[in-house]
Amino acid sequence: MNERGNQHTTVEVGNWDIQEVPYVYSELCVKNWAPWMVAPMDSIIGRVNVFTEGQLLARNEKKIPIGYAFINQINWNGQNQDLKSWREIAGEPTTFEDTYSPDGNTLVLMSINVHSDFRGIGVARKLIENAKSLANRHDIDFLIGSFRPNQYGAFKIDNPGFSDFEAYCRMVKNDGLPIDEWLRNLTLNGMRIIKEDTEAMIGNFSVDEFNNFRANYNPSSWVETEPNIWECGEVGRWIIDPNTNIASYIENAIWGQIELN
Ligand SMILES: CC(C)(COP(=O)(O)OP(=O)(O)OC[C@H]1O[C@@H](n2cnc3c(N)ncnc32)[C@H](O)[C@@H]1OP(=O)(O)O)[C@@H](O)C(=O)NCCC(=O)NCCS
Repeated sequence: MNERGNQHTTVEVGNWDIQEVPYVYSELCVKNWAPWMVAPMDSIIGRVNVFTEGQLLARNEKKIPIGYAFINQINWNGQNQDLKSWREIAGEPTTFEDTYSPDGNTLVLMSINVHSDFRGIGVARKLIENAKSLANRHDIDFLIGSFRPNQYGAFKIDNPGFSDFEAYCRMVKNDGLPIDEWLRNLTLNGMRIIKEDTEAMIGNFSVDEFNNFRANYNPSSWVETEPNIWECGEVGRWIIDPNTNIASYIENAIWGQIELN
């Protein structure tokens, strides 16, 4: 994309057309997420097929996709202890096919991503507004999300040894808003923290694959903080099991509830 968004960019949010999946996959997903975290294209197609109305796509005035939100619908009794993890709610495969409940009382924001050229102009805010409208149209009780504090990786690099994920999520600036950019943004949009989503995401890879990621993805960010435990500049960290040759990437997230009008 050779243009940047600005305050004059018109942003419209609608649903996905399956034909747009390859473009969004290559331009938004692959370019934004670390390679071990990119959802396979089949998962995205599955989500669009399983819960079409819950998959939101933001487009600019030229109808080019510039951001998206993946939403699942489940049943939840409102009790923190009964809230499952992101990976349990996504299901395996992560198409939502085994977890989507069309009569569920809860919408779950599973992932939000805005093209880097179009950040800071309210695309995420519009996606959240549309999620709220969807919730209100369907008489939903709870709009929640498993959110990824996107500056935690950098924070860990600046504060070696720091590992209290939830404490980081609850850290605020003088203005009372979270220090983390994405959590601050969400708070301004009516989010309050519920609890830590421990081991929200787990990915298992061979040690060869791990070494390949380490050599090719932000190589200067990788640090072995303890034997067989690696920070990589992302929210999660890697644990290597030398006996099985399995490298596991484990990432926590924070559950938040967004106020509905
Ligand atoms: C995090 C991310 C989704 C934010 O998207 P965005 O479209 O740039 O966000 P917005 O344009 O809606 O918000 C931009 C600014 O408006 C502010 N804002 C948003 N809603 C607001 C509101 N209701 N009232 C006042 N200010 C608001 C935000 O705090 C932010 O200001 P800041 O940068 O000074 O803190 C985007 O940066 C991104 O895709 N990052 C990579 C993927 C990622 O980390 N996703 C989140 C984890 S799933």
